[in-house]
Amino acid sequence: MARIFSGIKPSGSVHLGNLLGALRNWVSMQDENESVYCVVDLHALTLPQDPEELRASTLSLAQMLIAVGIDPDRSTLFIQSHVSEHTECAWLMECTASFGELRRMTQFKDKSDKADFVSGGLFTYPALQASDIILYDTDQVPVGEDQRQHVELTRDLTERFNNRYGETFVVPEAVIPPAGARVMDLQDPSSKMSKSEDSPQGSISLLDDERTIEKKIKRAVTDSEGEVIFDSTNKPGVSNLLSILGAATGQNPKDAGKGLSNYGELKGATAESVIEMLRPIQSRYYELVNDPSETNRLLMLGADKAREVASTTLDRAKNNLGLLPR
Ligand code: TYM
Repeated sequence: MARIFSGIKPSGSVHLGNLLGALRNWVSMQDENESVYCVVDLHALTLPQDPEELRASTLSLAQMLIAVGIDPDRSTLFIQSHVSEHTECAWLMECTASFGELRRMTQFKDKSDKADFVSGGLFTYPALQASDIILYDTDQVPVGEDQRQHVELTRDLTERFNNRYGETFVVPEAVIPPAGARVMDLQDPSSKMSKSEDSPQGSISLLDDERTIEKKIKRAVTDSEGEVIFDSTNKPGVSNLLSILGAATGQNPKDAGKGLSNYGELKGATAESVIEMLRPIQSRYYELVNDPSETNRLLMLGADKAREVASTTLDRAKNNLGLLPR
């Protein structure tokens, strides 16, 4: 049985990219493995947050994870700030990472270019992410393509730590899906899909209603050629729709367009498959929203289970480092 860990930030609405790139794999991997899934609220603090909104979006994201299919009985589901070992281990990882390694992270470069205020946390964030992963002796990390570099860094840090201080951490690997690993913005297919707050027409929230989904997909940017073929370099908009359709229907994006003769048909088929995929998720989500105390109860149990594993790993690391036991 492999150990699985992954996390998602509670900033903004959960979108189709999150679902196809990561969450669907989280759900399928929980059956055969020991899985730990986390709402990484501390990662959201790299940018200033409204306290009420952060509290609400953290709970809502946990409810969405359950609605998508994470089963808190089979998987460990918890909130990152409930298990303080994460921040303690992050310091060990910050002291293992070099300044140059952290500076080379493309997400840091992208985000710091756009932000007015660049916090120290935005820079050291990958060390916290590494600590999230290694505290659970993780073998596999299901993520979208944009997180590959962070998991590679985690591998480098664990290998370096193990070489310096003896076998301490498991070296993890990223698991990236064949279709949907990088869902692009519907209005700008050269950028990845991100929160709908940043790109209202380019991003599909998992809570968008049918009409909104149809409208956004109908207005998606394509090209003037009219031929439904997969070619991500020359036809990024059409290829993105084929990737979404392929991921939603379990086909290779190259085959997903078979039988579709124009962009109208492609958009119609894509909208229909997305609406079908989201319908049961939305109805479960709205049921859970009515009973926040049950979600809170599950999250407390999850944090207790997570802390047991995390504290054992952290003690091992501190001991190997030569920190004096209490
Ligand atoms: P976050 O919250 O931005 O995204 C959560 C997951 O969704 C995937 N994803 C996408 N996949 C395909 N297409 C897209 N457009 C798209 N946008 C997002 C992400 O790859 C991710 O898997 N740093 C992480 C959270 C994190 C984490 C961890 C992940 C913190 N600690 C430990 C794994 C392990 C992040 O900000 O993901």
